[in-house]
Amino acid sequence: MDADEGLDPADWGAVRALGHRMLDDMIDHMAGLREHPVWRPMPAAARAALRAPLPRAPSDPASAYEAFRQLVLPYAAGNAHPRFMGWVQGAGTPIGMLAELLAGGLNANCGGRDHAPIEVERQVILWAAEMLGFPPEAGGLLVTGTSVANLIAVLVARTAALGPDVRANGLGGAPLVAYASAAAHGCVPRAMDMAGLGTGALRTIACDDAGRIDLPALARAISDDRADGLAPFMVVGTAGSVDTGAIDPLAGIAALCRRERLWFHIDAAFGAIALLAPGLRDKFAGIEQADSVAFDFHKWAQVPYDAGCVMVRDGARQLETFASDAAYLRREPRGLAGGHPWPCDLGPDLSRGFRALKVWLTFACHGADRIGAAVERCCAVAQALAARVDREAELQRLAPVALNIVCFRYLADDAPTDLSAEIVADLQEAGIAAPSTTVVGGRLAIRAAIVNHRTRVADVDAMIDAVLAAGRARAVGRSMSAAGCNDIRSAASAPSSPRPGTGPAPSR
Ligand SMILES: Cc1ncc(COP(=O)(O)O)c(C=O)c1O
Repeated sequence: MDADEGLDPADWGAVRALGHRMLDDMIDHMAGLREHPVWRPMPAAARAALRAPLPRAPSDPASAYEAFRQLVLPYAAGNAHPRFMGWVQGAGTPIGMLAELLAGGLNANCGGRDHAPIEVERQVILWAAEMLGFPPEAGGLLVTGTSVANLIAVLVARTAALGPDVRANGLGGAPLVAYASAAAHGCVPRAMDMAGLGTGALRTIACDDAGRIDLPALARAISDDRADGLAPFMVVGTAGSVDTGAIDPLAGIAALCRRERLWFHIDAAFGAIALLAPGLRDKFAGIEQADSVAFDFHKWAQVPYDAGCVMVRDGARQLETFASDAAYLRREPRGLAGGHPWPCDLGPDLSRGFRALKVWLTFACHGADRIGAAVERCCAVAQALAARVDREAELQRLAPVALNIVCFRYLADDAPTDLSAEIVADLQEAGIAAPSTTVVGGRLAIRAAIVNHRTRVADVDAMIDAVLAAGRARAVGRSMSAAGCNDIRSAASAPSSPRPGTGPAPSR
């Protein structure tokens, strides 16, 4: 490369050839996911090979790509794989991957100014409003994920409670308190922390046996706090709890918030996309009454990471929380500085990538109904998994299955060690399946969250076969490092594995 030519290649043909190869390789990778282990621990040698001093001189892009193929590609987390069931993560799609290529090619900065990528984001926000049952004038913004979307909602609710002067003056000792259930995600207290309200200002309300907020207890807590001179300002409902998928009584919370004049925010990180599934929509009745909703496109809508979203019913509230003026960001009635308001007026980021494109292309290509059908299929797979767990004498289900998450334990788990954690690690290290762990009702649980559009009943059956094999091996005190791994591998390979997209319908 000539030093006078910036960073563009001297040989565009070579870049084109390399790009085509990358594309072919990644399409092969996606099409062949089932042929690979779900996850492979990164060997020490590969970690070490990544460590190098800051490269001062250029190197051949083909060899840098080869390093990616050798050191990165084989050791990714595996959430695209049909047997990834850990945590709550989407799997991505080929069209989402291609959208990332297009967005990278444009290199749009979507913080502001008048250009088409921001118009695409506005369209995505309109679709989100339609999905949620919000009015078209609702405000909204794409963000990294629900953690940040919840933080934005807390800040908007704070401004609504105290007025826009809070931005200049701070809280001034205002005794604001908010409420969420004990099942709320940890990013909700973190949002209170980051907003300067403090985690102590979040009241944790008990849940019923199904993991839903106890509405009478919530009402009591609000009235107790008022009696103590505090200033309740916000309730955070959960629509799909991270541990069990429980959905709070949203219409009941909405009515309570109206009576008490409180901001009603909903963390619907993965649940919101279930609104696209006709068979599930009723479970979320009341979401349309929220003042704000946080959710992710990168979970059940299968958009590649990252693609979170915050929606605010009254868009003016979001603007008064974040809009600011700076000479260097002057808005003009015409030219590139037109198009006011800008996304930077709706959230904390000024520099923002073109996240909207992968959301827009995902919906444009698959359609909302097909995405909803994938959500419904995940729930059907979860029901089949729950039924299998209930049939197995060695397994005990630990929570009802409201949507797509099944929590259970291996019954010999009375041992002083956490057998469920060992079993889960055994499965992950063997590359068979990747459930995760959590604690439900005080008990360590194996948690399978079916968020992946590629997961079929045969996959959860293979996971259970492997759990049983690993559990039996562990129960007799054998290490899984050698013989045990082979046991669970052969147990898990018994059911035939459908190829992606051609698997059987989720019936047994
Ligand atoms: C209910 C709930 N809220 C919030 C989050 C955090 O979302 P993100 O990881 O996109 O920030 C999650 C993640 O799984 C979740 O399940």
